[in-house]
Amino acid sequence: MKTIVVTGGTSGIGLAGALELARGGARIVLVARDPDRAEAALRQLRRANPGADHALHLADLSRLSEMKRVGAAIAAAEPRIDVLVNNAGALFDRRDEVEGGFEKTFALDHLSYFVITDALLPSLKAAAPSRVVSTSSEGHRFATLDFDDLQARGGYKGWVAYCRAKLCNVLFTRELARRLAGTGVTATCFHPGFVASRFGDETGGPLRPVFGLAKSLFAVTPEKGAETLVHLATSPEVEGRSGGYYSKRKPARTSRAGQDDAAARRLWEMSSEMTGVGG
Ligand SMILES: NC(=O)c1ccc[n+]([C@@H]2O[C@H](COP(=O)([O-])OP(=O)(O)OC[C@H]3O[C@@H](n4cnc5c(N)ncnc54)[C@H](OP(=O)(O)O)[C@@H]3O)[C@@H](O)[C@H]2O)c1
Repeated sequence: MKTIVVTGGTSGIGLAGALELARGGARIVLVARDPDRAEAALRQLRRANPGADHALHLADLSRLSEMKRVGAAIAAAEPRIDVLVNNAGALFDRRDEVEGGFEKTFALDHLSYFVITDALLPSLKAAAPSRVVSTSSEGHRFATLDFDDLQARGGYKGWVAYCRAKLCNVLFTRELARRLAGTGVTATCFHPGFVASRFGDETGGPLRPVFGLAKSLFAVTPEKGAETLVHLATSPEVEGRSGGYYSKRKPARTSRAGQDDAAARRLWEMSSEMTGVGG
């Protein structure tokens, strides 16, 4: 039975993906923030695959100490991990600094992917061939990185910070794939589509009603949004393929900024300095 770790598995794309993976026979290790939503997700997972001993770890993934604590706890409990799905993320209307002086979007949407992956690499290597799948977004196309101001101290717009973090997911995947070449662990990322999840509900400000209206008019279901996640986590079609960005279960081109190997390396090195891991 495959063990699949999913962050942000309490709602939206992560929950729909985790349930589909469980229905397909996987055992899910959920990483969640809200205890009530986590227990509700666990109950659904048990119905989806009653034969699996699904597990739950609680953590606020916007806080570096929590990323490290939960990463270490999962690594200790799970000596073999077949797939890690880095998916927890959000967009925030106002700039908020979290533990360590990190801007919250950067911490949650990028650093948590970086730190959790680092902590779980020994377990992923032990189960190779294994996979790291990260939820990015077409939003990455609107972004370039400002390496002199990754914490957006010089000015903040929620959408810009979000798109930059999603570009970080693309660059992180690229550099991770390069570093893991030959280990049997692959790294891919994907765009789920515009999905009617709880995305945008925490946003606040004028963006919140805009998201609400757009979601009711244009968005696809979380189940549809999770199709590429499930494909990348399980399909034999992508076995051994690493470093790519996918949309609608197919490889897709990233923006030019997403193909910048020097930027990918620089982001890795700076993330490593900031967090003290990944060196
Ligand atoms: N919806 C879209 O149209 C869309 C498009 C492109 C990419 N994405 C990406 O898809 C991913 C999933 O988003 P979604 O659309 O499914 O939204 P969602 O329904 O809001 O789900 C977000 C998940 O992240 C978790 N999360 C948020 N903040 C957290 C924190 N501080 N610590 C731990 N977990 C936290 C949430 O947990 P709680 O239950 O505790 O809130 C929830 O499980 C995100 O990375 C997002 O950027 C979404």
